[in-house]
Amino acid sequence: MRVYIRARVSQRLKMISLGKILESCRIIPVVTIRNIKDAVPLADAIFEGGLSTIEITLRTPEAFAALEVMVKRFPKFSIGVGTVIDNMDIRRAKDSGAAFAVSPGINIDLVEKASAEKLPYLPGVQTSSEALLGLRLGIKFLKFFPAKIAGGLEGLKQIAPVYPELMFCPTGGISFDEAPEYLAQKNVISVGGSFASPQTLIAKRDWNAIKALAQRAAKL
Ligand code: 3PG
Repeated sequence: MRVYIRARVSQRLKMISLGKILESCRIIPVVTIRNIKDAVPLADAIFEGGLSTIEITLRTPEAFAALEVMVKRFPKFSIGVGTVIDNMDIRRAKDSGAAFAVSPGINIDLVEKASAEKLPYLPGVQTSSEALLGLRLGIKFLKFFPAKIAGGLEGLKQIAPVYPELMFCPTGGISFDEAPEYLAQKNVISVGGSFASPQTLIAKRDWNAIKALAQRAAKL
């Protein structure tokens, strides 16, 4: 069974690469959209600020509509979805034009579905066993989530020599001030979080403040 899974999934995953997306934008703003009218001005502020990637959480009914609007308006940027928890999410993400999908955990069915849909996919891991599963499924890039309680920077340092092939995108509980030290860690490819576009500023529709934060994040 173990050999079968590895052979089947790894072969398909060769067709997919997430590396370019994560390397080209080392801070990934994770946003939750509650009002579809916020989608374009929010993305505009983030991209004007100099970031090139957005992860939209699938935690509101507006998420996929927001994704479609953003993708249509900003076709050159990498706009993806997070909180992907079932195969239908992957299918809808692909249909809605997502550049990538992110999950809070790792699951073989989802890895296979993303691979079959040729959708760059970032599963989440919290433990060494989950990182090992990702490795055996042929995955190189993993979300480290929730980073703060999964061991934070120290956890990433300890896992680095064990899994030199793996690169992580720590997300969850990371502050703006902590982001640089995560980015300096050798097995970190990018850092995700709401710190770059806080929900409080989205609720206030303070696009100037969000643009200023994006400018600051783009310099990290
Ligand atoms: C999330 O699940 O919303 C993301 O991981 C972002 O978490 P954060 O708000 O703690 O940055």
